[in-house]
Amino acid sequence: MRNLAKLLIWVAGISPLGFACAPSPAVGGGGAGAGGSGAAAGTLGGIASGGRAVGGAPAGGAGASTSGGEAGSPAGSGGVAAVAGTGNGGASAGSGNGGGGGASGGTGGATACAGATTLKDAGSCTNRLIGVALTNRHLDEPEFAAAALQFNYVTPEDEMKWDVTEPQQGTFTFAEGDAIVEFAEANGMKVKGHTLVWHNQLPSWLDALNEAQLRAALKAHIEGVMAHYAGRVIAWDVVNEAFDDDGSLRSSIWSQKLGQSFIEDAFRFARAADPNVKLYYNDYDIESAYAKADSVYEMVKDFKQRGVPIDGVGMQMHTRTTDEDPPVPELIVNLDRLLALGVEVVLSEMDVRYCADGTDEKQKKRFHDIVAACVARSGCGAITIWGITDRYSFLNDRTDLQCAGSLPPRPLLWNDDYQKKPSFDGVMDALLGR
Ligand code: XIL
Repeated sequence: MRNLAKLLIWVAGISPLGFACAPSPAVGGGGAGAGGSGAAAGTLGGIASGGRAVGGAPAGGAGASTSGGEAGSPAGSGGVAAVAGTGNGGASAGSGNGGGGGASGGTGGATACAGATTLKDAGSCTNRLIGVALTNRHLDEPEFAAAALQFNYVTPEDEMKWDVTEPQQGTFTFAEGDAIVEFAEANGMKVKGHTLVWHNQLPSWLDALNEAQLRAALKAHIEGVMAHYAGRVIAWDVVNEAFDDDGSLRSSIWSQKLGQSFIEDAFRFARAADPNVKLYYNDYDIESAYAKADSVYEMVKDFKQRGVPIDGVGMQMHTRTTDEDPPVPELIVNLDRLLALGVEVVLSEMDVRYCADGTDEKQKKRFHDIVAACVARSGCGAITIWGITDRYSFLNDRTDLQCAGSLPPRPLLWNDDYQKKPSFDGVMDALLGR
């Protein structure tokens, strides 16, 4: 069944494997040349992975923007053909002058990709950033920092939230966030800022403001934080979790005092503050056939029609070992309809908590199947896991979100003792099209 689905996807011209992969040192060393495959088609492409594949050097940066995914698709198809042994597949599938490169790049890339041992290299095979949420609380633990090197994209878990960055009005404190950015830069990782506007982790001084003051504070916050991180982050979660489960606007200080317009105001302020980063709306439970997913879809559609600046949607993907929230077919519907609006989609905070009948194998399969749905779509440009070790998952403190009775949620890729779990292999397999 899965093979049939893959075949259909391939026939439809979307690579389920997408070995646009330029990263093979065998092909072109620095990757840029070989990168003709994905690179010629994509603006950013698999090029970045070339550097990494060669030396494991953090230099890989170039791939940078998650937008590479869009244009990478044709070359990805070429890669598939190459894997299948028809060397000229890349040429026909590739677009324009990228085509020729596609064939050779795809061939070499396939070899290198098959042998990828890190998640980031596996992700680079399809021009995708593989991210992780990091926190300064544990960066000084060698095992934590070592595991982080599996990834090439970082979201600060808490260090760029409003209560940290502007604890007093007009007084910005960036030391916490800077430490994450410095770690990322030292290790060749890109950074996504998280998050400019949310209803949680807010400083109390906001409560005293009236409508006009609150709107001004929103603008000043976005400007202050984005100016500080300009050039050092590639994207921002501009607005986080603005909708309620029933699809209505969530009641928060923002909606109560400013109405729904706070969302588009935030995006406009953000675009004016930094025209060079991607701007995302981020939320949970928008992966399934829920009213909330419809509300976000309608909002993005409206934004695109009216020219409100938005580049992407983050599906948080805090999910479970049971095949629900989201069932994969519902995820695919939501992914595809958002992509059809011309925005990027990223899986922004993935974890898979054990439910009562959860097993390692079920968790592995869930990670696999969900990641595979993203990998099959060039516009799904990044996959971020919300933490490294089960020991520090934020879900350990969220009894309301747990579903395995008294057992801990264990939702991540490394166990409490930093041993890789089967879930790690599930992600790796999906990234490599296995
Ligand atoms: C969580 C952090 O992981 C915790 O450390 C913190 O105590 C609470 O917030 N959705 C989001 C993230 O967008 O910012 C949340 O992060 C997890 C849920």
